[in-house]
Amino acid sequence: MTLSFVVPGLDEAASEKIIAILAGRLAQEQEAALVLKHAHWNVTGPNFIAVHEMLDPQVDVVLNQADETAERIATLGGSPDGRPDAIVRQRTWKGIDLTGRHSTEEYLKALIDYYDAFITDDREAIRELDELDVISSNIVQDHVQDLEKFQWFMRSHLA
Ligand SMILES: [Fe+2]
Repeated sequence: MTLSFVVPGLDEAASEKIIAILAGRLAQEQEAALVLKHAHWNVTGPNFIAVHEMLDPQVDVVLNQADETAERIATLGGSPDGRPDAIVRQRTWKGIDLTGRHSTEEYLKALIDYYDAFITDDREAIRELDELDVISSNIVQDHVQDLEKFQWFMRSHLA
């Protein structure tokens, strides 16, 4: 990776490590928007409208997270890769396997599992970024706070 520049106070090696961590987060944030829309379109049965309508604001939030993460990469002198191929290449987490029309309960359980990996990976990124760049860490901290709240929303439908 060749950086266009580095921000004051960071060297190139640290910047490259930070950008690599953020690239993984960017891919998962973009994928989450697709996964949430997939569920939004395929949920059925009791509580359909509640779950269907609950998911769209989450799509908006994760897309905004992706934008913040991508622009942090650009701010650090890197080049964010927003292509579908990059999402697939970056994926180290388990995707969602559920396809077709299924009950709100089945989709919520699949999304809760998906968010488990999403939150775990964000928390791991925060641990690594704390050593490298607290400003990037702070961005991911803000993001994971929203994800944990959304997972609570989903769990609350199943209680
Ligand atoms: Fe829709």
